[in-house]
Order: sequence, then C-alpha cells, then structure tokens
Amino acid sequence: MSRYDRHVFVCINERPKGHPKGCCLEKGSAEVRDAMKSLLHERGLKNRVRVNNAGCLDACAHGISMVIYPEGIWYGRVKVADVQEIVDRTILNGEVIERLLIPDPNYAPSRMQFSLLGKP
Ligand code: FES
Repeated sequence: MSRYDRHVFVCINERPKGHPKGCCLEKGSAEVRDAMKSLLHERGLKNRVRVNNAGCLDACAHGISMVIYPEGIWYGRVKVADVQEIVDRTILNGEVIERLLIPDPNYAPSRMQFSLLGKP
C-alpha cells in the first residue's frame, strides 16, 4: 500500500514575463493548488491525498497543467472553478473528466481508475 491513495502534482513553474512558452504560475496555478489543498483538508482527505508543487510538467501549451497519480491523469487548462469537480469526481471517485484531459495521446491516462469511496 502506498503512503497516499492519490498524489497530485500541480505545475507552478514560473518563467520571465514575455517568455514565448508562458508558464502555469502566471495563469494562476498557485491559486489552483491552494484551492485543492484547502478543499482536501475540509473533506478530511489531507492524509490520503497529497498535493505537491511541480516544476514544468512539459505540458506548457496546455497550462495550467496537473497530473494525478497513480492513474497518470493529465489535466490541462485547469481553473480554480474546476477544483471541486476534480476532487469530487477524479480524486474521490476515480472518474476522468473528459473536458479537462490534455488533448494529446502522449498524456492519456495510463491505469485503471478506482474509487476512494468505501475504502477504509
Ligand atoms: S510551465 Fe507548466 S507545464 Fe510547463
């Protein structure tokens, strides 16, 4: 059994203003990370789901980018408004939210989804 049931990495990479690739931090990724941490804390999941800062996840064109393990679910263009749905559907219930998937087969989820609901 791994230490956490799910592990979320949110890109908070920062590039200088005007950099052609842009960066997730300037798009608001720290706010997305904070909203997710706070909601997981409220739901009592703090010890089961870990949210970590990530450097560039090499999905800059799709930022704000995040990846959720163990399934390897890559979401792009994530906004604070998406966080509750990600927690309720993906983190708690193992569902993939199709509209948030990065539209590139290189980022396709790699494992079967599972639910935390009903798990001790
Ligand atoms: S800057 Fe966020 S994925 Fe590269």
